[in-house]
Amino acid sequence: MQRENFGNRFGVLVAMAGSAIGLGNLWRFPYMVGEYGGAAFIFVYIICFFLLCLPILIAEITIGRRSQTNAFRVFHKLAPGSRWNLVGILMVATPIIVVSYYSVIGGWSVEYFVKACSLDFSPGAGPEAGFGDIFGSFISSVWAPVLYHTFYLLVTAAVVAVGVKSGIERFGKIMMPLLFVIMIVIAVRSATLPGAGDGLEWLFRPDFSKIDASVCAAALGQGFFSLSVGFGIMLTYGSYISKKENIAVSSAYTAVSDLVFALIASCAIMPAVFVFGLDPSEGPGLVFETLPFIFSNMPLGGLVSILFFLALIVAALTSSISLFEVGVAYLMEEKHVSRKKACVIIFVLTWALGVLCSLSFGPLSDLKLFGNTLFDFFDKLSANYLMPSGAFLIVLFVGWRMKKSDVREEFTNRETLSGNARIFPVVYFLIKYMAPVAIVVIFLTNLL
Ligand code: PHE
Repeated sequence: MQRENFGNRFGVLVAMAGSAIGLGNLWRFPYMVGEYGGAAFIFVYIICFFLLCLPILIAEITIGRRSQTNAFRVFHKLAPGSRWNLVGILMVATPIIVVSYYSVIGGWSVEYFVKACSLDFSPGAGPEAGFGDIFGSFISSVWAPVLYHTFYLLVTAAVVAVGVKSGIERFGKIMMPLLFVIMIVIAVRSATLPGAGDGLEWLFRPDFSKIDASVCAAALGQGFFSLSVGFGIMLTYGSYISKKENIAVSSAYTAVSDLVFALIASCAIMPAVFVFGLDPSEGPGLVFETLPFIFSNMPLGGLVSILFFLALIVAALTSSISLFEVGVAYLMEEKHVSRKKACVIIFVLTWALGVLCSLSFGPLSDLKLFGNTLFDFFDKLSANYLMPSGAFLIVLFVGWRMKKSDVREEFTNRETLSGNARIFPVVYFLIKYMAPVAIVVIFLTNLL
């Protein structure tokens, strides 16, 4: 089958950044920062991000483009007949798990968009202390979150059903820049609220004594999650990237924009958390409970909240589309199922898992797996275990199983990119030695 290619460089970037930037930056990063001690976490995060996550992104794109195939088949194709093709199963299963709970949070965003449209967050609207209660009763109820999850996932499936190029490229181009601008506006408002100083200090003055194995593991997991690496998303995208594209440049752009979004998001959230006396370590609800306070305290807050949640939904969609696409590509290319039918199958599977996750904030909250609710279990399982394992296998594969000359050829576009040729030894060192060792060390220390 002739594989589709992204139209041009801008299309590649939009798709990669679209996959990377999403709820991971705006929802997950701030609450991780809150849970793991503010500036110290950010400090570790940035180091992990550039020394480990970015090289892994490069490794994924490299094998994806080299193999021109999906995440499941890739190992089979590049190392025929070996055990490596078992890894493919991990590469397809992980995104299916992630998209099912991701779409629950996507659903919350849709619900908040609807609330914003009813001007619930405009200045003077909500009762000052009521936002937390509104949120709590929403997520613990049965029907509303499930319905919003269903709606969100249906939209995701519909976009994927239309096809890679037309479906994915069109979406991100307008909304990402909009989201960026709104985030800056929110961050400025949050940081200038009276009393924001404590939050800013908490964000920017690291207390290094807080750094331990659990902080490193959480930072690494968040890096993988945020950059969409470790389970074949970027690998699949890599296979759609044209042979003329510069892998290093596209990866670096993607990583930097992803990091910037995450940092701005925490600048937007944290000062307000302190100003309004919320608990920074409150977990997945943090962003949804904090933002309404900011909106209700800014001029044109009603309008800003509408635009914000709309842009958030689109950013989330471009990520969940990329997650959904992996399973669909697998069914199409391995099982020869049509795109539409593949979308239906993946939809049913992820919908059912997502419903369980959604209910775990309410009626199923007592159901615990290894001490976690289902939602937390899926989230931790994927970010802290499956993604690092996937990433580990990817770097092992690129560093130790593939021929160095092949990796080099792909990375330098057959020696036509002299800049890439110059940095290749460093990138290759990070992929071959640094990443596998660091992942194992962090993983084991955290486990013990
Ligand atoms: N990176 C996305 C985000 O930050 C989430 C995601 C994870 C998307 C893994 C694809 C793969 O929201």
